[in-house]
Amino acid sequence: MNYNGNVKSRLPNAGTSIFAVMSGLANEVGAINLSQGFPDFPISMELVDLVNHYMREGFNQYAPMPGVLALREAIAVKAFDTFGITYDPVSEINITAGATEAIFCVVTSMIHTGDEVIIIEPAYDSYAPAVELCGGVVRYSSLQFPDYAVNWPEVKSLINSHTKMIMINSPHNPTGSVLSAADMKELDHITRNSNIVVMSDEVYEHLIFDGIRHESVCYYPELASRSFVIGSFGKTFHTTGWKTGFIMAPAVLMTEVRKVHQFVVFASNTPIQHAVAQFLKNKENYLQLPGFYQQKRDMFTGLVHNSRFKIIPSYGTYFQLLDYSAISDEKEMDFAVRITKEFGVASVPVSPFYHDKQDHKVLRFCFAKTEETLVKAAEILCKI
Ligand SMILES: Cc1ncc(COP(=O)(O)O)c(C=O)c1O
Repeated sequence: MNYNGNVKSRLPNAGTSIFAVMSGLANEVGAINLSQGFPDFPISMELVDLVNHYMREGFNQYAPMPGVLALREAIAVKAFDTFGITYDPVSEINITAGATEAIFCVVTSMIHTGDEVIIIEPAYDSYAPAVELCGGVVRYSSLQFPDYAVNWPEVKSLINSHTKMIMINSPHNPTGSVLSAADMKELDHITRNSNIVVMSDEVYEHLIFDGIRHESVCYYPELASRSFVIGSFGKTFHTTGWKTGFIMAPAVLMTEVRKVHQFVVFASNTPIQHAVAQFLKNKENYLQLPGFYQQKRDMFTGLVHNSRFKIIPSYGTYFQLLDYSAISDEKEMDFAVRITKEFGVASVPVSPFYHDKQDHKVLRFCFAKTEETLVKAAEILCKI
């Protein structure tokens, strides 16, 4: 079909996401796919049965706009039990179509033309486009390579009278770094007595290792009082295809988010919300996650330990960065494509997570895979 009009793109620089590109290549050449972040093992049959149960019981029509109350209540209980914080399920919690919708609604509800948003890079790919669609201006600060620590003096120097939001993400995709208590205090300190809100992307809250505490903004009451906390059951219950997430925020902020959410999706999937509400009642369903994924991380790093790749420690998420500077000086994208085609293992270059495509010669590998997949992938990596 031919369209003959003029299209002035709202997102002129947006192309196909790097996850889709690398997964597409992996499929094309039959490579082991450690690129896109999704588990390749079965999910809980109990959870599947619960969804079936609620479908059969007739929970198939629109959910309430803010989400099924039982799920919002279960999230409030979990937040209180985990962080000791109280969110009102009626006015301060909202269910979304995945964290991606949550991010979009939070940004769209807060950012006006000319408002500045600080993004710490490398960053998840949906943050900047959401800001740009609102006419906002992104200010970038890079994590410091190779330990990916936040450069707080730099973040502070970016703050001015136009700064409206700071986005944080811990545990962090793509690096596997986590924010410490000292980081949170720094964030609290630099945003106190300001009009700056924090968008805290905590989708990997339960994927954290080595006994480290997940430093949610929820532990810091003053900070939480000007923060949006975003979570995703896709990550927590290995169900990325279900696209069910949530936002917690003070009522005044949530009121604004809901004005946007109602016109984006209005409500998200009803039977899944009921099922997740039920499933959350057994805390083990999420408390066992750090051990489960730590075992996978340790297995993967143990298997590639003697390769020529250098392991950059991963403290959370299901991603492991490997530094290939001892193998090649090719650009990340070129090297990632080459090892997918020539050796049959797909990963994701980290450079596309930077607006200026910084290239530190590191690739991201997803270890949310079966033992068999990880063993096969590691055998190949050891030959490169
Ligand atoms: C840091 C981060 N935020 C948000 C999301 C989106 O989560 P969802 O699949 O629930 O939309 C992802 C997914 O990969 C992510 O890594």
